[in-house]
Amino acid sequence: MADVHPAFLSLASYLADQNYTFVCPTPESQTRVVDKRNSSATTRWSTTLEDFFGWSLPAKKEILTKLLSAAVLRESQETSTIIREFKDGSFKSDFRFSNLYLPHISNGETDEQNSLYYVHSAHPTKADDAVFFGPDTYFFLDFLNRANRHLSSTRPRRIIDVCCGSGAGAIHMSRAHPNSNVVGLDLNPKALQLGPVNAALAGGRVEFLESDLYAAVDQLGDIDVIVSNPPYIASSEDEKVPIYAAGGAQQGLALPLRIVEEGIERLAKDGLLIIYTGVPIAYQRPGHDPFLEQMKGMKNAELMEYRIIHPDMWAEDVARGAYTDVGRIQVVGAVLRKSASTKRRSTHS
Ligand SMILES: C[S@@+](CC[C@H](N)C(=O)[O-])C[C@H]1O[C@@H](n2cnc3c(N)ncnc32)[C@H](O)[C@@H]1O
Repeated sequence: MADVHPAFLSLASYLADQNYTFVCPTPESQTRVVDKRNSSATTRWSTTLEDFFGWSLPAKKEILTKLLSAAVLRESQETSTIIREFKDGSFKSDFRFSNLYLPHISNGETDEQNSLYYVHSAHPTKADDAVFFGPDTYFFLDFLNRANRHLSSTRPRRIIDVCCGSGAGAIHMSRAHPNSNVVGLDLNPKALQLGPVNAALAGGRVEFLESDLYAAVDQLGDIDVIVSNPPYIASSEDEKVPIYAAGGAQQGLALPLRIVEEGIERLAKDGLLIIYTGVPIAYQRPGHDPFLEQMKGMKNAELMEYRIIHPDMWAEDVARGAYTDVGRIQVVGAVLRKSASTKRRSTHS
C-alpha cells in the first residue's frame, strides 16, 4: 500500500470538525462562481474554508490563520504541498476537498456516509495531469450502488476500476466488498498519488497501479468485476481536451468501447462489467444510441441492464466542432455479464 501523507488525514479530520461541506460542481459552474467572486475586490478572497478548499479562491495570511489551526496550517504547508504561498503573500490550495457521497434520506434517516471527503485537483483543471472528480463521479457511484444487485452472492475475488482517477469507483467497491482484492488503474501518476489518500480517508483497501487501460493486469479470465467511468468527450488532433476527458475517435466513444471489448476478454466466466459513459446522439437520429447497439451485439457478453442516467450532459461541449452533427450527449450506465470464455484476439490479421 502506498504511503499516505498524514497532512491530508489531519486536514480532512479538521475540516470534518468544522462541518466543512462542498459538493463539486461542473467546471463551468465553478468558473461562473469564481469569475463572479473575482469581479469585485471585496469578494475575490477566501473568507471561509469552503472558499479555500472548495472554490479554490486565494486567501490572505490573516484569514487563513483564523480558518485553520496553527498545527494544521504548518503541516499542510511545510511537510507537504497542500497549501502554497505565492510571492505576493497570498495562499492557495493545490487540492479541493469534496464530499464524496451526496446526502440521501430514506425512512426519515440521513445516510451517515455523506460526511466522507474526497481529495482532487484544485480549479481550474486545465493541466493534462489534473485529477478529475465531478458530477460524473457522483452519478457513477450511484450507478454502482444500483448495479450491485447483479453481483452474485459469492464474493468477487478480483475487482478492477479502470480509468480510476482519484479512486472513487475502486474505493466504493472496496467498501461494498471488503474481502475482495480491489485494484484501481490509471495512466495519470498524480491520480495514483491521490488514490491512496482517498482510500485512507474512506477506509477502503485498494491497490493503485499505473496502467494504460488493462496493461498492468494482462492476465485473461481472472477478473470477477470491472467498473469504469472513463473519459468520453470527443477528441482529435485539432481539438485538444484534457486526458481525463478525452474519449478519442468516434466522437469520444472509442475509449469506452475499448474498455468494454478488452474488459470482456479479461473477465472470468459470469464476471460483470459495469460501465458509466457518455454517448453522442446525432440530432438527425434522436432516438438512436450507437453505444447501446454495440452493447447489444457484444461478443461473449449478455447485456443485463442499460439505463439513461442523464439525457443531456455537458451541453456546452456539444457546441464544439467535433460534435457538429450531435444534438446531445446522453450519459448511460450498462451492465454486461460474460457469457462464455474467450481467447485473446490476435493482433495480427
Ligand atoms: C473522467 S475521469 C474519471 C475518473 C474516475 N473514474 C471518476 O469517476 O471520478 C477519467 C480518468 O481516466 C484516465 N485515463 C484516460 N485515459 C486512460 C488510459 N488509456 N488508461 C488508463 N486511464 C486513463 C484519466 O487519467 C482520468 O483519471
